[in-house]
Amino acid sequence: MKKQLSTINYQLSTMRTIFVTGGAGFIGSAFIRLILEETSDFKIINFDALTYAGNLENLNGLDETRHKFIKGDICDKEAVLQSLPENSEAIFNFAAESHVDRSIASASEFVLTNVLGTQILLDAARAKNIRRFVQISTDETQGSLPEDSNSYFTENSPIQPNSPYAASKAAAEHFVRAAHETFDVDTITTRCGNNYGQRQFPEKLIPLMIANAMNDEPVPVYGDGRNVRDWIFVEDHARAIWLAYLKGKAGSSYNIGARNERQNIEVVKSILDALGKPHSLIKFVTDRLGHDRRYAIDARKVETELGWKPITTWEDGLQKTIRWYRENQDWVNQIRSGAYRDYYKNHYGMEVGAK
Ligand code: NAD
Ligand code: TYD
Repeated sequence: MKKQLSTINYQLSTMRTIFVTGGAGFIGSAFIRLILEETSDFKIINFDALTYAGNLENLNGLDETRHKFIKGDICDKEAVLQSLPENSEAIFNFAAESHVDRSIASASEFVLTNVLGTQILLDAARAKNIRRFVQISTDETQGSLPEDSNSYFTENSPIQPNSPYAASKAAAEHFVRAAHETFDVDTITTRCGNNYGQRQFPEKLIPLMIANAMNDEPVPVYGDGRNVRDWIFVEDHARAIWLAYLKGKAGSSYNIGARNERQNIEVVKSILDALGKPHSLIKFVTDRLGHDRRYAIDARKVETELGWKPITTWEDGLQKTIRWYRENQDWVNQIRSGAYRDYYKNHYGMEVGAK
């Protein structure tokens, strides 16, 4: 018996701790699943405020011996310091207000969480001697590219955000850079394109279209529907972040993309076709203010320096995603029955469920 206990103690003491913020959201929860499945020597503290986008159901089935959830706000300095163990291996900062349309309606929450919250985490990383700080950023900090061109976002493209969301993420990137340059904090910044996959909140294009189409409701397409996004399956993004953490150079940024540019209208038609729904559900609606025309990522640095490549094709990823939403309609219905209804009515001028 004594021997067994000492073995357990030994195992616990060799476990390395990573601190993940925003792990009850879409990408953070996929990242946690990946790390628990594909490593054996990391345990995770998942620190999340459970805003409208955070959902404990996203954490169902996780190995609780290696995953500890703490409800907390990254803007609450004391809570962060209390929850973050000294000498942890890394902070992965996923926590954010993440929806462009909400940032257009009201930007202050974005400044608080995305900018102030990031700075509080950077200060905590210094105070607690954390080995590496990984900031999960977005290609949107680099603005918009022209249509029909061969231009791409590289790590050297200028930071020129257009939406309040992108501006807050760009500001956070600058504070991460400043922490590295001024205080020698070991930082990595990743900038990824549009993610899709299981458990994405149905305010974003793909899950919104799936949820509406499943219910034979109109699917709202902004403007002419020809804006281009560079789509990546969420698990491929999570794997790239982990590689950037393991192999990335301190102070560097990594643009992550799966070379998968699609016009919105093509994405929407693919979803309707996969669900066997008519294209007559498409409803062109007023364009988003300041709508970025095209995002496209040059992924050569992550491919060559980190040896990363996406595993999931667009066709497989979309099928997997649609299957998940079909099989988890309770998850969707629970969201669609809450505060989401007010958001939807304010934003689209129609009720959830309107036919
Ligand atoms: P999400 O909105 O699904 O999840 C955000 C999570 O952060 C939620 O669980 C929420 O409760 C939590 N959170 C929000 N404010 C918080 C606070 N003040 N303190 C603690 N927790 C808080 O977002 P997502 O799509 O999973 O995005 C995660 C990260 O990846 C974000 O930083 C986002 O900018 C970035 N990103 C997203 C995409 C994308 O396509 N979704 C692409 C590139 C980068
Ligand atoms: P979104 O998923 O909000 O991601 P982002 O704005 O961060 O790229 O939107 C993806 C694209 O889909 C974007 O060009 C806006 C468009 N879109 C619509 O056409 N209709 C919608 O209802 C939504 C939410 C987005």
